[in-house]
Amino acid sequence: MQLWQGRFQKALDPKTNDFNSSIKFDSRMFREDIEGSLAHAAMLHAQEIISAEDLKAITEGLTAIKAEIESGELEIDPNAEDIHTFVEGELTARVGAAGKRLHTARSRNDQVALDIRLYLRKACDALYGQLTDLIAVLCNKAEQYNSAVMPGYTHMQRAQPITFGHHLMAYAEMLLRDKERLLDAKKRMNYSPLGACALAGTTYNTDREMTAKALGFDGAMQNSLDAVSDRDFCMELTSVLSILMVHLSRFSEEIVLWCSWEFKFVELDDAFSTGSSIMPQKKNPDITELIRGKSGRVFGDLMTLLTAMKGLPLAYNKDMQEDKEAIFDAFDTVEMCLTAFIPMLDTMTALPENMRKAAAGGFINATDCADYLVSKGLPFRDAYKATGEIVALCIEKGLTLETLPLESYKAICDLFDDGVYKAIDLDKCVNDRTSLGGPAPKNVLAQVERVRGLNR
Ligand code: ARG
Repeated sequence: MQLWQGRFQKALDPKTNDFNSSIKFDSRMFREDIEGSLAHAAMLHAQEIISAEDLKAITEGLTAIKAEIESGELEIDPNAEDIHTFVEGELTARVGAAGKRLHTARSRNDQVALDIRLYLRKACDALYGQLTDLIAVLCNKAEQYNSAVMPGYTHMQRAQPITFGHHLMAYAEMLLRDKERLLDAKKRMNYSPLGACALAGTTYNTDREMTAKALGFDGAMQNSLDAVSDRDFCMELTSVLSILMVHLSRFSEEIVLWCSWEFKFVELDDAFSTGSSIMPQKKNPDITELIRGKSGRVFGDLMTLLTAMKGLPLAYNKDMQEDKEAIFDAFDTVEMCLTAFIPMLDTMTALPENMRKAAAGGFINATDCADYLVSKGLPFRDAYKATGEIVALCIEKGLTLETLPLESYKAICDLFDDGVYKAIDLDKCVNDRTSLGGPAPKNVLAQVERVRGLNR
């Protein structure tokens, strides 16, 4: 059934109907569509636009339709133009004229803008919960490994010693910001377009604030053209999801590296690893690779939305039907990624001995060696140069800062004494890095406590 009967002599060409239809991807909004219609009908009656009998018939009809779709008793017609058309058609088939009155002072343009908002509001809440779980897992791991010394890197070169707990808490900070961005975008989305009608409002005496309130919005959108044309919330949320995927992808990339035999900093649980069809020795971190790969999908969804919207004159244009596949795919993808990632991380074990071994090579305590000379009164630049010469000497002799004899130290700078060995001790290097936000175990524990307090 098409809603736009009257002007047309023929039904839409069947293949063109498939092309035009959005039912394959918008039927997931059936609950929201019905919720919006119930609020709209209640308002129409309160404003004396429809009778009490009509409201009753509509309410009962829609409530039954929702329950039957949920139970599987009522199948959504795959040939319907969209979910709005399907629900209205089904209602009218059941309750007759009352069903035909539901669409008074409403258009599918404000209806679809409403449904997406209602749907995404719930999707935001679910995602918020997953992020909270992920941060909780990170806090537990960071607490467990607060004193596990590992190399920190710049340019993928060993740089300075940090702790594994410190490294994990860096991701917790990013995810806290992701949560905040999500809440912020949700707040801006939470205004109702319902009652803007096709684009120009209506001559009926409607009460848009009433439906906005009934549907849990912070208010009604204030310009009817904007209300039906706006998809900022889709673009904004997909931006938020894209940034989140950047974080998950960077983390995944590190886990891929850490799982390699070259690093072996972590071991994934067998339940979250995969094997090879030919190489019996393989244990692959597929989940993390997929997350890294799927980040591209979400960025693609953002590009789809930006490009679909950028040339559209006001108000509604059919191009906007493309919004749903992109925004739903972005949310679905992130949800799937987190569903796999959270238990994978939770069951991942760190191998602190290997981290420590890696930290003991590569001269990551060279800065501390220079700082030691500074403590003896040498200006930092000179201390830096002397330490550089010491590192070069170690490399030449195949030694480390720990194994280089004191005479060799003294030959380069006579300010050295055997206190240098204490100064470059890895545990000391890490324990002394107590500046705000630093990697010392006690700082990590403080960060964990702070983040736990904020992670609600
Ligand atoms: N299926 C349409 C969409 O998703 C609903 C709005 C249709 N409005 C219209 N004027 N054709 O955008």
